[in-house]
Amino acid sequence: MPARKIEGIRLAKVIKAEIALEVARRVADGKHPPGLAAVLVGENPASQVYVRNKRKACEEAGLNSWLHHLPADTTQEELLKLVHTLNQDPKVNGILVQLPLPKHIDEETILRAVTPLKDVDSFHPENVGLLMTGHPRFMPCTPFGVLQMLKRSDIETAGKRVVILGRSNIVGKPLALMMMQKPSDANPHAGDATVTVAHRGTKHLKEICQQAEILIAAIGVPNFVTAQMVQPGAVVIDVGINSVNGKLCGDVDPEVGEVAAALSPVPGGVGPMTIAMLLQNTLKAATIHQT
Ligand code: GUN
Repeated sequence: MPARKIEGIRLAKVIKAEIALEVARRVADGKHPPGLAAVLVGENPASQVYVRNKRKACEEAGLNSWLHHLPADTTQEELLKLVHTLNQDPKVNGILVQLPLPKHIDEETILRAVTPLKDVDSFHPENVGLLMTGHPRFMPCTPFGVLQMLKRSDIETAGKRVVILGRSNIVGKPLALMMMQKPSDANPHAGDATVTVAHRGTKHLKEICQQAEILIAAIGVPNFVTAQMVQPGAVVIDVGINSVNGKLCGDVDPEVGEVAAALSPVPGGVGPMTIAMLLQNTLKAATIHQT
């Protein structure tokens, strides 16, 4: 039987509608709508699409959004100056610096310059530390989206064997933390799962993946996960966004749909959830510093 499709697009719409309702309530109370400032440096076509989609989602949910599109030859000092201005602007609740940045700019320096209270990506070391210790201020958008996607699809994570393929700072590492942590009042979305993190250098990768009840692919290699790697009846989440001959494809081979019980599609799976969680974080940021 083909796998059930985990409908990220539909779930993201539900979350965005919840956010829109909350934003409308805040505005009716005389507050400013939450505002997101997106910073884009250069002309990376994929980044331009991501930022456009993020801003469109903001507008649909009633959030303010501003785009600061800087030329590719912007200096690190110029970018730092913009970040400092946005840090001070009371109408800006969230700051998103779209990655990757041009090579002559040190990403780490820029990400550390964003005030942690507006760091809706949760990339600042202070927010990473809070997440690590189980007191997240903001949950990073893609891992948060994966957890919400599972929860809202009634897929239990507690006690499950979860294998995460990929160890990036944006997805693999924070997702492993969030998935393994014990839920608490400070950390209600934690997964309570037993987590293995694997990557391209992992020995016996196929056997490890076969043990997963929930397999999450964030390795950045087109169609890396094949049907032979998946336990029949497993849930498979595809975080991959790859371009092959101009066509978008994930990290999971479509043949996995014949083995898995449930599978998130690319496009239309984790991508829209990531954007919904960015809005959620921006709303949260607005409640941290009321305007
Ligand atoms: N580039 C790829 N993914 C992301 C993300 O989640 N946030 C930002 N700011 N840049 C990215």
